[in-house]
Amino acid sequence: MTGTLDAVERTALLTAALRAVESGRADRLYTDPYAARLAGDTGLKLLGELRDATAPREDPSGERSGVPSTPDYNALRTRFFDDYLQREARDPQTSQIVLAPAGMDSRAHRLDWPAHTRYFELDRPAVLALKEQRLRGVPPRVEHRTVALDLTAPDWENTLLTAGYTPDRPSVWLLEGLLYYLRHDEVHRILGRVAALMAPGSRIAADLVNTAALTRPDMRALLDVFAGWGCPWLSGTDDPEALLGAHGFRAGAVQPGEPGADFGRWPDPVPPRTETGVRRVFFVHGVRQ
Ligand SMILES: C[S@@+](CC[C@H](N)C(=O)[O-])C[C@H]1O[C@@H](n2cnc3c(N)ncnc32)[C@H](O)[C@@H]1O
Repeated sequence: MTGTLDAVERTALLTAALRAVESGRADRLYTDPYAARLAGDTGLKLLGELRDATAPREDPSGERSGVPSTPDYNALRTRFFDDYLQREARDPQTSQIVLAPAGMDSRAHRLDWPAHTRYFELDRPAVLALKEQRLRGVPPRVEHRTVALDLTAPDWENTLLTAGYTPDRPSVWLLEGLLYYLRHDEVHRILGRVAALMAPGSRIAADLVNTAALTRPDMRALLDVFAGWGCPWLSGTDDPEALLGAHGFRAGAVQPGEPGADFGRWPDPVPPRTETGVRRVFFVHGVRQ
């Protein structure tokens, strides 16, 4: 069945494999009891390929090289957005949560949600079909709707509205593990379309890389893996607050390793935002004005 997934869809299995590994660690930042079954053999195979290609190694001069720690990054990302979504969901005004895309994320099944929450999982049809199969018999802990769509298609908004999303009620949207697979113009187009569906006071969050992360030699091994799979990283931004600001959000951003996004697990130095040319990832969040 996973043979029917294309390259970017298969990254959902990779992410689930990372969550499965994290869940087995003594110092885990969360427990995802469904991650292993969601990842399947394909997810573990992809993770193995990523590890093989990006393991720290010494060049002939004795210099050690490597790329940022993907397992630690992924663990921080999951935990950061777990906490973010749970915090925002407690706001009695916020009745809708939208994961765009949901991939093999199991927050609807592994976390508790307030009774007033309606939880939408958006992704391509093949991903959601596989997820449903792999989670059969596991009830979601929230009023839950899966919505099969392509976020670059001309009319996905109608599919979401038909599924029961109400644009004039406050919502929280999470664009996790998506934006770097899209061209810059597609990122803007999707953010504009999402913003148009969000009532004032609604929240949005996403993870992003900066532009140097797409070109630096010390990122090459990681970038080559994704490009080799057929889902290259295509875009990044050096000003995530401005990116969201351009679509009507008051935004803030934090880098893994900074206060609030460290969890004692970020292994790399975090250069100040004034330093140019270094690789970065951002967790950006905004409020719809
Ligand atoms: C790295 S996974 C992240 C999924 C999830 N947010 C997580 O963290 O586990 C990327 C997901 O983006 C989805 N995706 C990529 N492009 C998409 C598009 N144009 N429309 C809908 N989903 C898309 C893929 O199907 C895949 O499930």
